[in-house]
Amino acid sequence: MEKVHLVYYSPAFSTRKILRIIGKGIASPAKEYDITQGVGEPLLFGKEDLVILGVPVYSGRVPAPFVDIFQKIKGENTPAVLVCVYGNRDYDDALLELADLSKENGFIPFAGAAFIARHSIFPKIAENRPDDQDKLQLMEFGEKCYSEFLNLNIDEDKELKVRGNHPYREPSNIPFVPKADSTCDNCGTCVKLCPTHAIPEGNPKKTNKDICIACARCIAACPKQSRRFKGLVYNMVRKKFESSYAERKEPDIFFT
Ligand SMILES: Cc1cc2nc3c(=O)[nH]c(=O)nc-3n(C[C@H](O)[C@H](O)[C@H](O)COP(=O)(O)O)c2cc1C
Repeated sequence: MEKVHLVYYSPAFSTRKILRIIGKGIASPAKEYDITQGVGEPLLFGKEDLVILGVPVYSGRVPAPFVDIFQKIKGENTPAVLVCVYGNRDYDDALLELADLSKENGFIPFAGAAFIARHSIFPKIAENRPDDQDKLQLMEFGEKCYSEFLNLNIDEDKELKVRGNHPYREPSNIPFVPKADSTCDNCGTCVKLCPTHAIPEGNPKKTNKDICIACARCIAACPKQSRRFKGLVYNMVRKKFESSYAERKEPDIFFT
């Protein structure tokens, strides 16, 4: 019997939320793998499995740390659904990159989608997404993926075509890191959850700029809401983004 697996890289938890809603549309219990902090033993999937693979979009690409982690995740002609989640700017080449990586690793992507969630760096953008309308679309997408999966003939040579270009967009560097205010009580949650170990144990107020990838996990996870992006440069970019990307984007969905 086939098994359904939700595999996600999700620093600020929106990709996880989106995959879980897709999972609800699938009429089979799903096992979850949060790979944000890496995987211990390699994850190997077979051709009876269905893998739903989700990543956020970073600068129009898949996050660089995900590319390293994904080297330990292999399929063997394993049907896969590819999901990228973006903050209402654009997903550029991220879904295409995810399709390329997944094929290299033994997966057979038969469905792909770009969904929208709150922008983790500029949280007023797509602030309440996924909303009720998104949730319906996500459930329907899950249902359709599952019925396509049950009828899938992987020997048929049908290739999934998604939006995106080669060569991929050049990723840009984010010039700011989250900072803690005086309400931080050194509880250590951010230290434990930071995917790049950029927050020192003794002094969580001091984020290491050279290692931080601005993923905003520490902000999302802080039980005291003590952490945020701030400063002159941040506020300038934030205002520009908030006015440029205020208009609601809708999901893109692709099937073979
Ligand atoms: C470093 C970084 C780069 C991002 N680049 C983009 C982008 O190019 N386009 C976009 O629309 N959203 C972008 N976002 C927003 C995220 O894709 C979006 O908030 C996503 O939901 C985050 O997923 P997560 O909550 O699972 O971490 C970026 C976020 C971060 C942290």
